[in-house]
Formats: sequence, structure tokens, C-alpha cells
Amino acid sequence: MSGNFKVAVLVGSLRKDSVNRKLALAMTEMAPPGLRFQLVDIGQLPFYNEDNDDPALSEWQDFRDTMKKVDAVLFVTPEYNRSVPAVLKNALDVGSRPMGESVWDGKPGAVVTASPGGIGGFGANHHLRQSLVFLNVPTLQQPEMYIGNAYSLFDEQGKLNNDGTRQYLKGFLAKFTDWIEANSQAA
Ligand code: FNR
Repeated sequence: MSGNFKVAVLVGSLRKDSVNRKLALAMTEMAPPGLRFQLVDIGQLPFYNEDNDDPALSEWQDFRDTMKKVDAVLFVTPEYNRSVPAVLKNALDVGSRPMGESVWDGKPGAVVTASPGGIGGFGANHHLRQSLVFLNVPTLQQPEMYIGNAYSLFDEQGKLNNDGTRQYLKGFLAKFTDWIEANSQAA
């Protein structure tokens, strides 16, 4: 195992008290030794418009430059109206252009969705996977991560409040590490 992979963490919610952000931070804190997580902000990206891409807006270029330097990507997102929040879809679109220079191509990924509802963002999870197929992101299949009733998993300080979830996330991160090693372009 080569083992020192940079992983961009993209959170599909912008709000301060986001449960998905809490989850992303919890996973970052328990990252296995082989992974270095970096939260990449996507809220500042203007909506993609090809008219403004030659030359590229600086926010788009900075995002692309950052994403080109990472070995893998972890998506942690809520579901909005049974689909992917616009901010995250926009980041996918920005990173996919210019044609032939996509930051996503071949980069291993994984998807985690969390919701206060019972079905854990299943719709967003699979809509996101549809785009990731086209973008050629080899995406971890198992374990699937639909985190339901997510508000109940964190205390008032935003920390995970139970060992069961911690162990579950650790197991997922171990599989994700194996997945990155098996699919990495850097190895
Ligand atoms: C939601 N929410 C939601 N939840 C869900 O399980 N399925 C859904 O389709 C939707 N749709 C939806 C649309 C919009 C516009 C909003 C603002 C919210 C509720 C959502 O899961 C809840 O607000 C989460 O707390 C959002 O995640 P963060 O911001 O806490 O990470």
C-alpha cells in the first residue's frame, strides 16, 4: 500500500449548523493514517456558464487547481427534493469543464448522504452516482451510506454522540481507503 492519499471532502450544504458538515468533520477527525482529508469549499463558486470560461473565472480556476491536486473525493450531502443540492451539482459542472480537462476523470470517490428523515438521502445519493458514472469517478459501492435520523447522532457541540455510529463510519473509511488504493491514479 502506498497510503498517503489526499482526499477532498465536498459538503453539499452551506448552512452553519449543517448535519452533513458535522458528519464530514467527524469523518475527518477519524481519518485513517493513509488518508489526509481536506474540506473544499464549494459555496463561493458562481453558477457555471460557459460564456465565462475563456478565460475561466478565478473561483472556478482555483477550485479546479485544488481538485487536480487531490487523489480522491468524498461527497457528504443532504438530499434536496429527492435530488442533489444545486451547490453540489454546480461544483460537479464547474469541475467537468473545459471539455477534456475534467478534474473528476478517474478519481476514486465515495458518497455519503445524511438526512433527518428515515431514508437517509437515498435519492440524492443515487442521483449523484448517476453523474459520477458519466464523469468517470470510480465510486465505492459498498458499504452504502444513507444516514437517516441524522440530527439524533450529534450532541450540542456538534460531536458524534454514540460509539455505534463511530464504528460504522470507521468501517466505511477503511473500505474507502482500500478502494482508493485499488483505483488510485497516483499509485
Ligand atoms: C430538504 N430536506 C429534505 N430531506 C430529505 O430527506 N429529502 C428531501 O428531498 C429533502 N428536501 C429538501 C429540500 C430543501 C430545499 C431543503 C432546504 C431541505 C430536509 C433536509 O434533509 C434537512 O434540512 C437537512 O438538515 C439538510 O442537511 P444539512 O443542511 O443539515 O446538512
